[in-house]
Amino acid sequence: PPPSPPGPPNDTSVKLVNDAAHPFMPLQDGDIRGPCPGLNTLASHGYLPRNGIATPAQIINAVQDGFSMDNGLATLLAYATMLVDGNPLTNLMSIGGKSPLTGMDPPQPAIVGGLDTHAVFEGDASMTRADFFFGDNHSFNQTLFNQFANFSNQFGDGNYNLTTAEEYRFFRIQQSIAENPQFSFISPRFFTAYFESAFPLVFFVDGRQADGQLSVENATSFFRDMQFPDDFHRADGSQTADLVNNAATAIFSAHPMQPGGNNGTVNSYTFDPNSANFTEGCKLYTDFVNNVVVPLYPTPQGALKVNLNANLGFLFSTFSNCTQVFPYGQ
Ligand code: HEM
Ligand code: MG
Repeated sequence: PPPSPPGPPNDTSVKLVNDAAHPFMPLQDGDIRGPCPGLNTLASHGYLPRNGIATPAQIINAVQDGFSMDNGLATLLAYATMLVDGNPLTNLMSIGGKSPLTGMDPPQPAIVGGLDTHAVFEGDASMTRADFFFGDNHSFNQTLFNQFANFSNQFGDGNYNLTTAEEYRFFRIQQSIAENPQFSFISPRFFTAYFESAFPLVFFVDGRQADGQLSVENATSFFRDMQFPDDFHRADGSQTADLVNNAATAIFSAHPMQPGGNNGTVNSYTFDPNSANFTEGCKLYTDFVNNVVVPLYPTPQGALKVNLNANLGFLFSTFSNCTQVFPYGQ
């Protein structure tokens, strides 16, 4: 079975992470990047394998070391994506598109498509990536980034800050309602959208500054160039869990939405009562397992089942006060 996930690091201090041991290097032929500016940056600095193929343990260590993400959130994200985007037989995942480097695939309907795969984890109304309906859900989109910058100028005095995040998150949802006939905004995307809007406030701001104000210049460095700014210091790791949760809650609360989607035409947003709402963390977990993972792996056997069960257990360990579900038996 796959190894257990790494625990929290001993050293959570603010420190230089754009250091001599982790130089930025431009993409080489075949290197993969995807929809996550955090992981893209870590790969381009060698905190992750530079080719963009990684194990969950490598991802957890990289986001802890490079950005001070807390162990619980890192473990949750690493295994949620591993279960739907990675190869459970080889324990490898692409941080972007599908790759032969993740090894021989398990039987269909498994996808093993990497983080670019739409509607298992990646979803609509991203800040700097277009909706899947428009053709490219993973590349940096300059038009959207210009909007991000305009909002930062209008609401954040030149910075992406909490107010910018609240307004731009809501605006991107309204934009998808108005432009994307297939817009989908149900769990898990309903959660990840708010959390990802919070991440730049906590992780892309230098830990010595730590004021939740991300300049457009530094945002460009991360989102477009996949590069730490010069002399970049990571955040204080003892603070990031609370900061992320509080910011995500504030962003949601500024303009609360109900989960739902358009019905095949624009401007037809309809509430979906089956989706977990923002406060239903255990339903997020249960529905992810039953409605997203199980359809990809309806009847796993042998090593596949053993590995899926292990990864499901690691995912469950990151949810407190929920009841574990065992789709493949205990
Ligand atoms: C978006 C995965 C950690 C920052 C995404 C997306 C995926 C992803 C699949 C695309 C979702 C979408 O917008 O449709 C992961 C995984 C992580 C991780 C598996 C492992 C722990 C991080 C970290 C940061 C970060 C540490 C910040 C340092 C972001 C941001 C977005 C994003 C800001 C939104 C991009 C946008 O809306 O344009 N991530 N991520 N992520 N991630 Fe990560
Ligand atoms: Mg997206």
